[in-house]
Amino acid sequence: MPFTIAIDGPAASGKGTIARALARHFGFAHLDTGLLYRAVGAMGGDPVAAARALVPSDLDRDDLRSAEAGQAASRVAAIPEVRAALIDFQRRFARTEPGAVLDGRDIGTVICPEAELKLYVTANDAVRARRRALELGDDEVRILGELRERDARDAARAVAPMRPAKDALLLDTSEMAIDEAVAHAIASAKEAG
Ligand code: C5P
Repeated sequence: MPFTIAIDGPAASGKGTIARALARHFGFAHLDTGLLYRAVGAMGGDPVAAARALVPSDLDRDDLRSAEAGQAASRVAAIPEVRAALIDFQRRFARTEPGAVLDGRDIGTVICPEAELKLYVTANDAVRARRRALELGDDEVRILGELRERDARDAARAVAPMRPAKDALLLDTSEMAIDEAVAHAIASAKEAG
């Protein structure tokens, strides 16, 4: 049986960095599920048709990281048929041997409720805006507004809203260096295994 790690949390909380580091540490596959929604949003046209036609190479576009792509992703992510079209791919990925790390918003609650480890990663708004502004070379105040808007939409939607699974471990990275957050996550995975 593969070992599945589900990591959820708001934008720029550090979940992607932690997911990549866990995958590297344990030799697991990693899927950034936000890229699926970003790719669907970036395709334009009918988002449901785009989600149904999505192929892995669509995730390689380099314009998917921008704040605009994040906003477009969060709009299409509220459409139930878009989410439904992406479930099988994510669940199949979660069964990769010897293990898989998936990060997103609904991994612990909807996609992999049976995951061996569920983490919910948070950080305060100011820290998240600073991190993302550094990463994108963009203005911190603009980014803060964008993150808040996206988080509000992601948490309020009717289908698969962003929230921690009941049995998720909460990891607040506001006061942590990234190495420290990664060390916490690795220790939690070892305990779960
Ligand atoms: O994680 P990232 O910021 O790239 O995600 C972009 C958007 O995709 C999120 O704001 C959210 O609306 C959506 N998303 C989602 N469910 C996931 C991953 C991302 O709804 N599992």
